[in-house]
Amino acid sequence: MASNHFGTLFRITTWGESHGKAIGVVIDGCPAGLPISEEEINAELALRQPGKTAYVSPRGEKDIAEICSGTFEGKTTGAPISIIIFNKDADSSKYEPIKNLLRPGHANFTYLEKYGIFDYRGGGRSSARETACRVAAGAIAKKLLALEGIDVVAYIKEVGGIAIAEPSLSDPSLLREKTRKSPIFCPDETATAKIVKAIEQVKEEGDSLGGVIEVVGFNLPVGLGDPVYEKLEANLAKAMLSIPATKGFEIGSGFQAARMKGSQHNDQFIVGAKGEITTASNLAGGTLGGISTGMPLIIRVPFKPTSSIMKPQKTVSTQGEEKEFKIPEGSRHDPCVTIRAVPIVEAMMAIVLADALLLNRASKT
Ligand SMILES: Cc1cc2nc3c(=O)[nH]c(=O)nc-3n(C[C@H](O)[C@H](O)[C@H](O)COP(=O)(O)O)c2cc1C
Repeated sequence: MASNHFGTLFRITTWGESHGKAIGVVIDGCPAGLPISEEEINAELALRQPGKTAYVSPRGEKDIAEICSGTFEGKTTGAPISIIIFNKDADSSKYEPIKNLLRPGHANFTYLEKYGIFDYRGGGRSSARETACRVAAGAIAKKLLALEGIDVVAYIKEVGGIAIAEPSLSDPSLLREKTRKSPIFCPDETATAKIVKAIEQVKEEGDSLGGVIEVVGFNLPVGLGDPVYEKLEANLAKAMLSIPATKGFEIGSGFQAARMKGSQHNDQFIVGAKGEITTASNLAGGTLGGISTGMPLIIRVPFKPTSSIMKPQKTVSTQGEEKEFKIPEGSRHDPCVTIRAVPIVEAMMAIVLADALLLNRASKT
């Protein structure tokens, strides 16, 4: 399973399982001299934490990151930064009755076929617990980006078919403020109320909902992303699709582009207010030829409805016998994983951009 790294220069390696002792991340390639504290990392982790509202899993895990290496006197030293987060609230006993059943929508089947062994308690490496490590690494990536004035904001765009009103992208801080004020990371108050109601209803029905997250990169310079296999959107797509439960990737006009004419879709070049070359619209979503244009980088990521639902489902055992699958009494799940995925999507864009920023320093003399 040699598949636990992401990135070229700003490179993360995560380890650990949901029901193991701890999880962690090693960040290689972060330049020396970047101020970073455990408090800043923990503030980001708190956003992803389960058990905070009725709309996410009640698992009471308190994610506390400890920096074990790579910093001295509050600054990075250039050495590998390693971060550990101990697992404290993993109740493995609940999974005993379903240990020989294939969980619909989960990775038991594919992992078992591929490796011949599967951690039935929480899904092992397939568990979204791993994504806490990405959020920790993302906190460091964000600090690196902030030095260049680059900002990243993710928010709920749609849940259960309820879409938000188009948000204004003119002020990233205001967009973040509105998003963080919402119990579901949604910058639109009216949509928040409707979505909360829909989630409460689906929870009562013992079912789950899917949704779409939009993430925007602000104040990017022109030039991030390299041609061919390191295109910015190619790396973003891989970053996003590596998050559990994702089902797609869109940049800019996305799938809508397929329904437009060239004359409608081309973003017209203009001279901007400061004399810079820019575009009048941004259907491209912030890249051309895989390289950032300087316009906001706009990505959308759809998430499937949570696979673990309270309703009984038909399945088979690992021995191929037909069985009924029921979530064990007292086990804890998100009725809509899209909500908790917002900080994860934001972290993954930050990690891709931090890597692209460092790679771009080698682009010309
Ligand atoms: C933040 C987050 C939390 C999740 N929590 C749950 C959960 O409580 N129950 C569940 O069935 N799936 C949950 N998932 C999704 C599963 O991890 C995922 O569907 C499963 O590993 C199968 O992988 P796949 O959907 O990518 O194919 C969560 C995903 C994310 C991003």
